[in-house]
Amino acid sequence: MERYIPIARRYRPKTFSQVVGQDHIIRVLQNQLSTGRVPHAFLFSGTRGVGKTTTARLLAKALNCEKGITPQPCNQCRACKAIDQGNFMGLLEIDGASNRGIDEVRNLQEIISQRALEGRFRVVIIDEVHMLTQEAFNALLKTLEEPPEHVVFVLATTDYQKLPVTIISRTVHFHFREIPQEIIKENIMEISEKEGFEIEEGAAELIAQSAEGSLRDAQTALEKVIAFSQGRITRKDVEQALGLVPQELMGKITRAVAEGDRKEILSAVRNIVLQGYSLRRFVRDYMGFLRRVLMGKIAGKDEFPGLSKEDLLRYLNILLEGEYRLRNAPDPRVYLELMLLRMSFLRHVVDLEELIDSLLKGKVPEMGQIDVPSSASRESDKKSQVAEEITNIEMALSRKSAILSTSFKEADRVVLKGDILSLFYSGDKSFYYRKMNEKKEILRSVAGEVLGRSIEVEIHLAGEESAEKTEEEEGEDPKVLLLRRIFKAKEIKEE
Ligand SMILES: Nc1ncnc2c1ncn2[C@@H]1O[C@H](COP(=O)(O)OP(=O)(O)OP(=O)(O)O)[C@@H](O)[C@H]1O
Ligand SMILES: [Mg+2]
Ligand SMILES: [Zn+2]
Repeated sequence: MERYIPIARRYRPKTFSQVVGQDHIIRVLQNQLSTGRVPHAFLFSGTRGVGKTTTARLLAKALNCEKGITPQPCNQCRACKAIDQGNFMGLLEIDGASNRGIDEVRNLQEIISQRALEGRFRVVIIDEVHMLTQEAFNALLKTLEEPPEHVVFVLATTDYQKLPVTIISRTVHFHFREIPQEIIKENIMEISEKEGFEIEEGAAELIAQSAEGSLRDAQTALEKVIAFSQGRITRKDVEQALGLVPQELMGKITRAVAEGDRKEILSAVRNIVLQGYSLRRFVRDYMGFLRRVLMGKIAGKDEFPGLSKEDLLRYLNILLEGEYRLRNAPDPRVYLELMLLRMSFLRHVVDLEELIDSLLKGKVPEMGQIDVPSSASRESDKKSQVAEEITNIEMALSRKSAILSTSFKEADRVVLKGDILSLFYSGDKSFYYRKMNEKKEILRSVAGEVLGRSIEVEIHLAGEESAEKTEEEEGEDPKVLLLRRIFKAKEIKEE
């Protein structure tokens, strides 16, 4: 019986041109090879599964191909074939994690002092080199200073910051990048086809997303999915085989967030916990999901008409910040709930043009509470910045005091005009108006801190507001007035 070789090994690139996502490195290497000026020691750094070992082996081929040192090894000669099969005498692969000590390095020095039985160069790959002991590094350093003519070192590591600078400075350092999702997706689709499996584009996309920059992880994931699925590989197959939170559930959460359905949010989180998904993992996947929704929106495919691009960006912002904190949160579940709830409390921001557009088409947006930016959309960037600033103040307040934060949210309008932050309360909100007045100083200092400049705070109750409003309404775009009346909109504005 033939032994089964996993995909990630069968598809290891045999030529430089098959290495993807690392063009910046491959080009330099090939140049060095074609001019024959090859350094004695390389440092290959980068996360797992991005092509370090692969490239090191290609380098060994390029240096030992029987056709001569070449940027394009022939893959036909004995040396090339032996390296591909992993039994070339001139190639030494050492695992730094299990050969950490001084004795191992001395042993290595002994071996490389002589030429190999075959090949022009001895290529020595030390994997996970950051695991060596201090003594071993010192010994290695001597060799790197005066290496034998026929030796080329490739030090590989996922964590080069742990290396002594003296080692780094004696090598030519190449940092391998994480592989972009788009490239991983293409690679996965290509391999599926070669393996004779049909795969949905969305399924390949999901695999790419879950691999987080590692092509090996993606290929290993594909292997699992293939074993799992029957016939055409679908998104659902990928979700089930890899234990990902289903897209359907993420869609549900998004709708609940958009509609402020907090009961549904909590029940969805309970679901995620009960099914045993990792919460951090969920947050990352959910960001990927929202990112795709956003890209779809930009491309004109609208899965969530109730959400604007602006809304999605702000959700992503909260998740991005939260993902980092979730790591250290004492109770990640509560933290996740809070994050989603916070998203559900964000005011919706609607692009004025979009709104008029939908009005002209006779569609009325479904959301109950809409902020209408007051001036033309060429200013929408500034608008969203102001909206963001106000949200930041809101968040800072919620960390400071519950009553302050509630009173802030209860304001009918919040206007940030230069350095003046004005809050407007209608008559029935006079309780919050009074509370806010009492805590005005705190609001002033929090806002100042958040915005990084000194801020004046003005708090208005109904009567005053209407006076100001008429004054403001003069000379205002009639379309905006119309919209404001139709939707009784709250407003975030700056002039
Ligand atoms: N840049 C790439 N181009 C093409 N295939 C790649 C690339 N990176 C990884 N692969 C695929 O992943 C497999 C593993 O890659 P490789 O051994 O080079 O990773 P590595 O960077 O050395 O990872 P580790 O840090 O875990 O040792 C390869 O056999 C290949 O199938
Ligand atoms: Mg490796
Ligand atoms: Zn060859």
